[in-house]
Amino acid sequence: MAEELFRRWPVSEEKRRRMDAAYPVFAGDGGQAPFGPSGYMLPVDAEPFLRQYVQTPVDPGDVWIVTLPKCGTTWTQEMVWLIQNDCDYKGAQCLLCPDRYQFLEIACISAPHQREEVRQGNNPISKRNMFSRVEERPKPWFVKTHLPLHYCPPALLERGKVIYVARNPKDMCISYFNHLKVFEERDPDLPLDEFADLFMAGEVNQLPYFPHVLEAWKQRHNPNLLFLFFEDMKRDLRGTIQKVADFLGKSLTKEQLDGLEFNLHFDSMKKNPWVNKSMAYAYSPLTAEELEAMAAKEPPPQFMRKGQTGDWRNHMSQQTSDKMDAWIQRELAGSDLKFITG
Ligand code: A3P
Repeated sequence: MAEELFRRWPVSEEKRRRMDAAYPVFAGDGGQAPFGPSGYMLPVDAEPFLRQYVQTPVDPGDVWIVTLPKCGTTWTQEMVWLIQNDCDYKGAQCLLCPDRYQFLEIACISAPHQREEVRQGNNPISKRNMFSRVEERPKPWFVKTHLPLHYCPPALLERGKVIYVARNPKDMCISYFNHLKVFEERDPDLPLDEFADLFMAGEVNQLPYFPHVLEAWKQRHNPNLLFLFFEDMKRDLRGTIQKVADFLGKSLTKEQLDGLEFNLHFDSMKKNPWVNKSMAYAYSPLTAEELEAMAAKEPPPQFMRKGQTGDWRNHMSQQTSDKMDAWIQRELAGSDLKFITG
C-alpha cells in the first residue's frame, strides 16, 4: 500500500487557528489535518484507523453506501436495506447504525475525547456503534462510509457493490452547516458565509468536496458502482428505487414498489424513529432514557430537516452563492459532471 495514501499534511499556524476556532470540538485534541492524496480532513490521529479501514475484507453480496456527509446517505441506506431484505418493514424497526449497517469510520471522524466519552458513558448502543468491528457482523455486510474511494478496500469495486450518492454542493453546504451545529462540532455562532469559505477550501471534517465526488464519477461505468444524485432521488423516487433494485439484482412487485415509494418519501421517513432519531441514540454517550428525559423538556433537533433541493436559496447570500458558482465551474472544468442546484 503506497505510504502517500496515509500521509498527514502539515497545517500552517494560521489555518490551525482558523479551524480550531470554527470547530472547537477538535481543537483540544490537536485539531484536524488533511490526509493522503486529496487532503481528506480528519482528526490528527486518523492514520492507524485509515490503515485498518482500507484492509476491510469484501465478499460478493456486501453492499457499501459511499457518500459525502449530508448527501442522502440515510435515505439510501434505508432504501438499500429494504430492497435487499425483501421489504421486511418489521425487521427494519431497529437503528440503521449500528443495528443494520456498520458506520465504518465513526471512531476515526470523532474527536479523541468524544470516543472516550462514549467509552466511559452508559450508552451500549453508541459503544457498539463506535467500537464494534465490521468483522463481527454476519454476512452479507451493509456498510456506510463517507470515506473517499481511495480509503475503501481496493477489492471493493471488484467484489462488492457500491452505491455512491452525490448532492449539489450548495445544498450539501447548508445541510452540513446545520448538522455541525446540531451535533456541536462547530462554533454555533460561525456565520454561514465564513463556513462556506471553509467548505470550499476543504477545511471541514470529511471534505474536500470535489476530489471525493470526481473520484467516484470516474467509476460511474464500473458495473459494481451505481452513481446516484440526491436531486434525481427527489425528482423520481420510484425510478431510483427501480434502478437500485436492478443494480442489486432484485426484482420488485408493483406492491413492493408502491410500499417502498411511500415509506421512503421524506414525510414517512421523518415520522420513522428508526431513521430520524438514530443519530442521537447511536452517537450520544447518554442513554436512551436520559435522551428521552431531555427531549421531554426541549424537543431535540430533527435529523430529517427539510429534504429539499434548492434550500440554499433560503440561506445563502448572493455573494456566497456567486463565489460557490465560480468555484463549482472551476472545479468541474474538463469534467462532464453536472449538478442540479434547484
Ligand atoms: P437536509 O438537511 O437538507 O434536510 P445524510 O443522511 O447523508 O446525512 O443526508 C441528510 C440529508 O438528507 C438531510 O438534508 C435530510 O433531510 C435528507 N433526507 C433524508 N431522507 C430523505 C428523504 N426521504 N427525502 C428527502 N431528503 C431526505
